[in-house]
Amino acid sequence: MRSHEAAEWWRSAVIYQIYPRSFADGNGDGVGDLAGVRARLPYLARLGVDALWFSPWYASPQADAGYDVADYRAIDPVFGTLAEAEELIREAHALGIRIIVDVVPNHCSDRHVWFQQALAKGPDSPERELFWFRSGRGPGGDLPPNDWQSIFGGPAWTRTSDPDGAPGDWYLHLFAAEQPDLDWEHPRVRREFEDVLRFWLDRGADGVRIDSAALLTKDRALTDFDPEDPPYPHPYTDRDDVHDIYRSWRAIAESYPDKRVLIGEVWLPDAQRFANYLRPDELHTAFNFAFLGSPWQADELRRVIDETLTIHAPVGAPATWVLSNHDVPRHVTRYGRADTSFNLEFRQLGAPTDLTLGTRRARAAILLSLALPGSAYIYQGEELGLEEVEDLPDSVRQDPMFFRTAGANLGRDGCRVPLPWSGQEPPFGFSTTAGDPVKVEPWLPQPKAWKDLSVETQTGDPGSMLELYSAALALRRESEHLGDGPLTWLPAPDGVLAFARGAAGEGTDPSFVCVVNLSGGPVPLPVDGTIALCSGALESGMLPDDTAAWLVR
Ligand code: GLC
Repeated sequence: MRSHEAAEWWRSAVIYQIYPRSFADGNGDGVGDLAGVRARLPYLARLGVDALWFSPWYASPQADAGYDVADYRAIDPVFGTLAEAEELIREAHALGIRIIVDVVPNHCSDRHVWFQQALAKGPDSPERELFWFRSGRGPGGDLPPNDWQSIFGGPAWTRTSDPDGAPGDWYLHLFAAEQPDLDWEHPRVRREFEDVLRFWLDRGADGVRIDSAALLTKDRALTDFDPEDPPYPHPYTDRDDVHDIYRSWRAIAESYPDKRVLIGEVWLPDAQRFANYLRPDELHTAFNFAFLGSPWQADELRRVIDETLTIHAPVGAPATWVLSNHDVPRHVTRYGRADTSFNLEFRQLGAPTDLTLGTRRARAAILLSLALPGSAYIYQGEELGLEEVEDLPDSVRQDPMFFRTAGANLGRDGCRVPLPWSGQEPPFGFSTTAGDPVKVEPWLPQPKAWKDLSVETQTGDPGSMLELYSAALALRRESEHLGDGPLTWLPAPDGVLAFARGAAGEGTDPSFVCVVNLSGGPVPLPVDGTIALCSGALESGMLPDDTAAWLVR
């Protein structure tokens, strides 16, 4: 390991996202769990990732797949026990893999003891001050306190009944009704989450991913606004006082002798405002959603890459590169569509896609991502080239986004289908008991065609997505030029991205070059060098369209 990685490991880390419900099931109930992950740690070590980020594994009614937390210090029985989580952390560490847990501070579950007490104690009780309880408008208080809409669709307010059964106050939930928002001006809320942070850092977590990090503080006036033309500052997004919270969290992270990291889920259109979260006394890194949302076009990708590097430089934070996660359509599908961008309106779900083209581009995209300066994220299953599953029957869908929009938005279930591990038939080795595959229906059905994408099928096939990821990760680990460090653009034809890492920045010949061809036809390689890795075969010495190559010199 390079010395700067040991000290500030997150600056170059490749972080693999585990969505626990869908990674591997070790107790044969059709839902992924910690036993499944523990059994597959050797797979992750062989793949060559540096850290695992776990989407929530806490006690939860699973109204939003665990992002509705009922107890931040307990593991949901569907996933296992706290003792197993501690074992998992130890086992991963023994393999040289770090662990990042997901902390959800904007809201908790409506089954959380705080919310239950708030309901039980009734209007004006101090228990209600931890949330946003308000009386309704209109006659009888029958209308919500304001016109805010939930990010999942429908109103952001739900009415409660008083302890005597009469219609009562309303409470705010920016997401589902089962996810009441916490009031971050309350000192108890702050203290509790600082304690939760320490709870997991004390158990060996190397970092936390902070859910909905820009939403925590709200304008107490709770005024109506037009979402198409929101006021500035926004009533609940990216308000200046949210930064105080992360300053105190940073101090907690710094109080540990080894490096613990804070990673923000910060979706903001304004790149400069995004960078504010990465100031030296705040978060260490944040997901680069501008890159994830970029269409597969050379000029737009280059613009996003340049902007990313420009905004990160002054705050001294490493950039991150993300292609997919559990909230967005899988990029094999996205890159096969006419519109290859992603936006939060999910407009493209169900649009026609060419998976062969999408896969070809996804292969090039991972070589691009892993060659860029900073750290990179891999969402489980992208290393297998899984596509978005778009034909799930409505009866199996679980995402509140689907239900709260009455199906107008298909939601995120299609990227959460359980992984195929082995065998010819669903569940493709996803479920095991005592290590042996069992035939139970997974919580979401897998496409039959995934027999060709299973870990077993792809392992050892030099043309597979899995072997491309393994090879790229192995080269990245060995290379002193990849990860954090400078990037130098090289001259290249229109539609071709070419950049050097390493020595070029110091005025000598580039030692490592990445070339990505999005020009629409084959191009000669713009520099000499030995091909270390290519996302597709050269044709008559030329780099085909939608193909990337890594060159070393
Ligand atoms: C974040 C999570 C998403 C969840 C939402 C509410 O955006 O990534 O999955 O639904 O927050 O917690």
